[in-house]
Amino acid sequence: MNSSKRSLTLRTPDDCHLHLRDAEMLKRAVNHTASEFGRAVVMPNLKTPVTTVKRARDYRKRIQAAVEDQFSFIPLMTLYLTDNTRPDDITEAATTDWLVGAKLYPAGATTNSSSGVSSIVKLMPILEKMAQTGLILQVHGEVTDPHIDIFDREAVFIEQVLSPIVHELPELKIVLEHITTRQGIEFVKTSSENIAGSLTPQHMLFNRNELFRGGMRPHHYCLPILKRENHRAALASAATSGNPKFFLGTDSAPHAQQAKEAACGCAGCYSAHAAMPMYARLFEHYEALDKLEQFSSVNGAHFYGLDLNPGTITLAKESWQVPDSYSVENGESVVPLFAGEKMDWKVIPDMT
Ligand code: NCD
Ligand code: ZN
Repeated sequence: MNSSKRSLTLRTPDDCHLHLRDAEMLKRAVNHTASEFGRAVVMPNLKTPVTTVKRARDYRKRIQAAVEDQFSFIPLMTLYLTDNTRPDDITEAATTDWLVGAKLYPAGATTNSSSGVSSIVKLMPILEKMAQTGLILQVHGEVTDPHIDIFDREAVFIEQVLSPIVHELPELKIVLEHITTRQGIEFVKTSSENIAGSLTPQHMLFNRNELFRGGMRPHHYCLPILKRENHRAALASAATSGNPKFFLGTDSAPHAQQAKEAACGCAGCYSAHAAMPMYARLFEHYEALDKLEQFSSVNGAHFYGLDLNPGTITLAKESWQVPDSYSVENGESVVPLFAGEKMDWKVIPDMT
């Protein structure tokens, strides 16, 4: 990586956890991502979840069709696991080179997860098949028991659900997605090399105070929810440490403004418009800009067994103002993270 005071050139990064939605929202979101990233692991929680290889193939085509010509972007897909997923779905998925995993949403844990998995015991044959075929399990690591405090749901999931799975199937490769707690960091650090974790910008830049700074801030509400400062600090320190088990996954999750600013607002933060500038801000704060490339462009690719991206992107130390919102062709709009605020790093388009 070349770095100077004012700019930073790094190998084109990968976003290992991304929500793109469909139709007009897809068109908006994918081109923000494609302007910074070479590939992304696209989450399957559409309104009609991506539960089969056929649905994943069709969705992938819709994504590719929505990417503007100026960008080169490869969508990597993941299947949505349900109580009805069949071992054959896994076998078929593993024969493709563009389906890189299957996602476990505990039923009811988050946006569009009602068809998720209700019994881990029943899922075990599927997980065994994944271990055999090398398909990676991506995990939304929260229990759904309403009696468990929302701030404890990740730690309880690790203890009650994830640890037993890892114990039972040590050869299964797992990504604990969007880690938000020091327990999550510890779990990944102390597990075998088959266990890795993705980290979002919001969980490393903000603690839970941000949800209520000067009033209730629905655009900072996502799941897992922002945590206490000591957890945020543990995540930031893991990301900037150079540990190859941790990599970039934005969890950028666009929702229409009206759906967020509502009596029962949706969970999800939109960060695709400025993801790399946000990570650069964090790494700069921790005096670890020299570790950014490994976190964003190397560790994820290695864990997924992919070649590194060929090109580079350049980040310049240049102030710009994030718009209050981005419009979507269907008349909706999306309020991004840092709306109306200044970012101090900017992605400079590749002129070659
Ligand atoms: C995601 C979404 O909106 O699809 N929301 C979120 O708060 N992160 C779902 C998810 O990843 O949990
Ligand atoms: Zn997500």
